[in-house]
Amino acid sequence: MRKRVAILISGGGSNMLALLNDMATEDHPAEPVLVLSNNPDSGGLARAAARGVATAVVDHRNFPKNRANFEAALHTELSRAKPDIICLAGFMRILSPEFVRNWAGKILNIHPSILPLFPGLHTHERALAAGMAVHGCTVHLVDETLDGGPILGQSTMDIDPDDTPETLAARLLKREHMLYPQVLREFAAGLSGTAFPTK
Ligand code: GRF
Repeated sequence: MRKRVAILISGGGSNMLALLNDMATEDHPAEPVLVLSNNPDSGGLARAAARGVATAVVDHRNFPKNRANFEAALHTELSRAKPDIICLAGFMRILSPEFVRNWAGKILNIHPSILPLFPGLHTHERALAAGMAVHGCTVHLVDETLDGGPILGQSTMDIDPDDTPETLAARLLKREHMLYPQVLREFAAGLSGTAFPTK
């Protein structure tokens, strides 16, 4: 049985697309069952629908100053889809410890830094300001801490002297698109009881 994957997005969804493209291959241990956004204007929603994947919107602006109600609505949508795995892919809302506990061990996130360095926002600017010689991205299990949780995979690259936050972001995004599908594939295969492939 293929593992059921829900993907949470807020924006263009290029990482989501990389995951969908990989799951479209025949031997994949997982299948997409829902793409959910907190933003009705997410370009990723149309891209998912065009691939025949169910989509849903839970607009956080309908729950002003009430994260509990927003998350309850999110939980209801997700519960309908019965996911084995939830992939955060550019999902720009912080999830409460209560929400995370409900889906413990099932939520994956991609973060544009070499965690545990630079959790939070503006990672490219911060890597440059710190004088780092390398930068990278991390896929990790989500726990109750911000960008914490066990690391499942990382990809790193050199920082060039003339790099800007924009050039770093663009170069790193290409690595994210390779890393996230690879980690999801291994994670889903692991859940099926298949041995993790060796790298
Ligand atoms: C990526 O850089 C991801 O690491 C970060 O948000 C960005 C999402 O881009 N969390 P996209 O929506 O997948 O194109």
